Amino acid sequence: MSTDVEVTGLHKSFGDLEVLKGIDLKVEPGEVVCIIGPSGSGKSTLLRCVNLLEEPSSGTVRVGGTELTDPDVDIDAARRRIGMVFQSFNLFPHLTALGNVTIAQRKVLKRDKDEAERIGRDNLKRVGLADKVDSYPAQLSGGQQQRVAIARALAMGPEVMLFDEPTSALDPELVGDVLAVMRKLAVDGMTMLVVTHEMSFAREVADRVVFMDGGVVVEQGPPSQVIANPSQERTRSFLARVLNPAKVGEE
Ligand SMILES: Nc1ncnc2c1ncn2[C@@H]1O[C@H](COP(=O)(O)OP(=O)(O)OP(=O)(O)O)[C@@H](O)[C@H]1O
Ligand SMILES: [Mg+2]
Repeated sequence: MSTDVEVTGLHKSFGDLEVLKGIDLKVEPGEVVCIIGPSGSGKSTLLRCVNLLEEPSSGTVRVGGTELTDPDVDIDAARRRIGMVFQSFNLFPHLTALGNVTIAQRKVLKRDKDEAERIGRDNLKRVGLADKVDSYPAQLSGGQQQRVAIARALAMGPEVMLFDEPTSALDPELVGDVLAVMRKLAVDGMTMLVVTHEMSFAREVADRVVFMDGGVVVEQGPPSQVIANPSQERTRSFLARVLNPAKVGEE
């Protein structure tokens, strides 16, 4: 099941600092949108506003037609439709992979133990960790821990998945396995909003790339346009830095 996300006129300030300055963004059901942009441009704040971890200062967020920013909406129910994966995995160290993937199902969704474990095992299998069900986080690599975190989100049955730099805390050799899981999710039709520095992933998997800078969307379009042939100077200079950091450093 997948659904759409529509952000309209989104503003977010922290005190005097205006971080999001009017974002309009629509993600179609099953679409994969990658958000790129320099540090501090508001990418994480945007994702956090989409599932109301941050309260927008103004503007609306709709998920599958439900307005999350409507004060009368059941925010816990609405938020359950959205899965989120962060750079840090935040697994419980005292729980096994299966324990980490079942706890919220039991506490939040009130599933019984058998059902939660069946769904948990299915999702650990889905991320390639069928053989790590009984392992504790300390016994898993960073990439495996991140895949447990993805399975944990998927086990809640989200209609939309948000990823905030899911691979940037990982050693380079572990990045590929996590991206492969995300690629598969995209193929399966999940609606995905992904903040990433992995330009090759964005180029290959994204239906659309959104370049943000200074709290606004500077340009967006298919990767063949935004990454390969950007129209804005700000996008070009960002990509030059990201795609060829060594060269820029020499200049
Ligand atoms: N809770 C907060 N309180 C105050 N300022 C905040 C808060 N969260 C974010 N900011 C500020 O908002 C701006 C945008 O931050 P955000 O984390 O959204 O950027 P980002 O694009 O995700 O950057 P990065 O690529 O480094 O993750 C920054 O100037 C940051 O300091
Ligand atoms: Mg961020």
